[in-house]
Amino acid sequence: MSSATENMFNRHEDVASRVRSLMDQMTLAEKIGQMCQLEATHGYAPDYLGERLRAGQVGSVINIVDVDAVNELQRIATEESRLGIPLLVGRDVIHGFKTVFPIPLGQAATWNPDLVEEGARVAALEAATTGVNWTFAPMVDISRDPRWGRIAESFGECVLLTSELGAAMVRGFQGEALDDNGSIAACAKHFAGYGAVESGRDYATTNIPDTKLRNVYFKPFKACIDAGVSTLMTSFSDLNGIPATGNSYILTDVLRGEWGFDGFVVSDWDSVRQLQVHGLTENDSESAYEAATAGVDMEMAGDAYSNHLAEHVESGRVDLAAIDAAVARILTIKFELGLFEASQTDPGSLPDIASKRALDAARTAATQSAVLLKNDHDILPLQRAALNSIAVIGPLADARYEQLGTWIFDGDEELSVTPWHAIRDFVGDDVELQYVRAMENSRSRANDEFHRAVEAASKSDAVLLFLGEESILSGEAHSRADIGLPGDQVELVRRVRAAGRPVIAVILAGRPLTLSDIVDEVDAILYAWHPGAMGGPAIADLLFGVESPSGKLPATFPRMVGQIPIYYSQKNGGKPPTQENVVHIDDIDAFAPQTSFGMSAFHLDTCFTPLFPFGHGLSYTTFEYHNIRASHEEIRLGDVVTVSVDLANSGQVEAEEVVQLYTRDLVASLTRPVKELKGFRRVRLQPGATETISFDLHTDDLAFFGRDGQRTVEPGLFHAWIGGSSDAAQRTEFRIIAPDSVTGVNA
Ligand code: GLC
Repeated sequence: MSSATENMFNRHEDVASRVRSLMDQMTLAEKIGQMCQLEATHGYAPDYLGERLRAGQVGSVINIVDVDAVNELQRIATEESRLGIPLLVGRDVIHGFKTVFPIPLGQAATWNPDLVEEGARVAALEAATTGVNWTFAPMVDISRDPRWGRIAESFGECVLLTSELGAAMVRGFQGEALDDNGSIAACAKHFAGYGAVESGRDYATTNIPDTKLRNVYFKPFKACIDAGVSTLMTSFSDLNGIPATGNSYILTDVLRGEWGFDGFVVSDWDSVRQLQVHGLTENDSESAYEAATAGVDMEMAGDAYSNHLAEHVESGRVDLAAIDAAVARILTIKFELGLFEASQTDPGSLPDIASKRALDAARTAATQSAVLLKNDHDILPLQRAALNSIAVIGPLADARYEQLGTWIFDGDEELSVTPWHAIRDFVGDDVELQYVRAMENSRSRANDEFHRAVEAASKSDAVLLFLGEESILSGEAHSRADIGLPGDQVELVRRVRAAGRPVIAVILAGRPLTLSDIVDEVDAILYAWHPGAMGGPAIADLLFGVESPSGKLPATFPRMVGQIPIYYSQKNGGKPPTQENVVHIDDIDAFAPQTSFGMSAFHLDTCFTPLFPFGHGLSYTTFEYHNIRASHEEIRLGDVVTVSVDLANSGQVEAEEVVQLYTRDLVASLTRPVKELKGFRRVRLQPGATETISFDLHTDDLAFFGRDGQRTVEPGLFHAWIGGSSDAAQRTEFRIIAPDSVTGVNA
């Protein structure tokens, strides 16, 4: 055994023995104390939490980032309580701490796990300066409904992309070792199926068949567990009639029984007591019972556990063994974080806030997250030398707080550089700039300033229109039933368009918006999400061609909200729509009999395709895919097939392309999606260069959970595509043959 492995083994064995010896000394009250997380937001926490800390009744605190107060809390817990157990200090460090990065949905558009990992690392180092040692991220809820405000916090609709980026974020937060200075424990949330809330309304009900849980919603959590995530958080939502926070099937049978997860599970905020609101329990006492026996190890910001767990143990309804298991998992994380050796924080031992590393990473993330949705006549990049004047218009051109996005409790607005300021700095005196906000905010219906925007546009060589949503319009509890541009923005676009100058729309938003009303009114659309503190410089670099856009959509953009759910990995159905078998409502004859046109899965009043598909994103160069091929026509279970393509940069500029591999299992005992992302890679090519890009596919990568809930790979024909979007054209195929190469239904 290598010394490193031996050290690791000894460390784990060492922790386990230290946990055992500590627990042997603990009273039931002290054990339950470890299962309680209290909010520390009411005034000076050491004053009003001091007594409970001294009594050993608190295992963790949440929402305190004053390092002196945190150090005092830790001092009381370790020096003035009977057993001196240090505290977990939790905080939502979702996309940066002081230095704010693009929202996770924007980071997903980078398709760059290394960049996501670096962002999480930087965020951990900044958060750790305040004594925070636990974050409630990554959020890995598969999100296929852009009405849902929390899609902003997600990595989008795709199982593989979410899994890879969630694992990367875990690595970033937790570092090489949890007890490294600056490492913080991560928390994969919200287990499970939260993204499937009905109508995209936050906290609403979810109904998800087991095969879909296993083939879609569970997978990113398993990826985070495989990456070593320390904790999981339960979802608020009702899952198939049993709220996740009281659901022993997911929290015990799957999480512990099948996956062997040995970290701990924390409830969401007060979600234990909400079991009564759901209608699962009569009162807090029953809620404590249901959550504890389902597998919730720690209660966040509630007092059901502290008020009622002891009675259930003393009455025998809850086994002491279950309490011991929960406490052991919590203490293990505390030991692994090194808190028993060092619970005091010295900010000076960590890098400065807003370090060059942090700002560079935030800028790169903002640059790579922006998606060029359209670019007619190659209007972008703007040629500074050819422009005398530019009009910068719209409510989001100079909104330094709004561009930070949701979940930025600790974000430093002073670090936020807006597009207006960055463009002004970039062009200097070379180009005359006119700035017209035109709307007080994105929701404004007052258009009395529009004439000034039109006047500025008519005097300019190009118009930059900054549109979208403020950060408050996405995030938790901020779902929208209509996801168009709010307020009178569409009218602003039309009025500015009428001035007859080239119009580039730059959109800052926390979700995919329906853009059908403006897509033909503008020459280009750059979708920047909420790009974080460095959004301005990144957007300026992209608009003026310092960098070429390379972002790719992590979520499908519907033409209208009525198409939702619409996502790339849909099932084919028995009557799939084609261009031939659909008709538009405007083309229906006045008196059309019932069976007068094709019967297929489409809407009469919109096209059956999305406005922009998953994986879409343009560049300032052109990438061409040729000669896709598979290394084998047939492979056996356990084999690898290599799928390759020749990628050419046939344009004029060096740029990066996210090359994507999709597969389809044509026939299986459970219908399979028409496409599933199975690989992706960012590739940088000089103009004129060609490179062969290859992906190795093991048959295991093609497994799915079948009717019996078991993971399986079935023989049969597979299609494979490689391209720059989910509507990639280059296709090849291969067949998995059964060991005895039998023929039959699925062979
Ligand atoms: C919130 C969120 C959860 C967050 C927690 C702590 O309600 O649902 O994602 O981590 O409370 O702030």
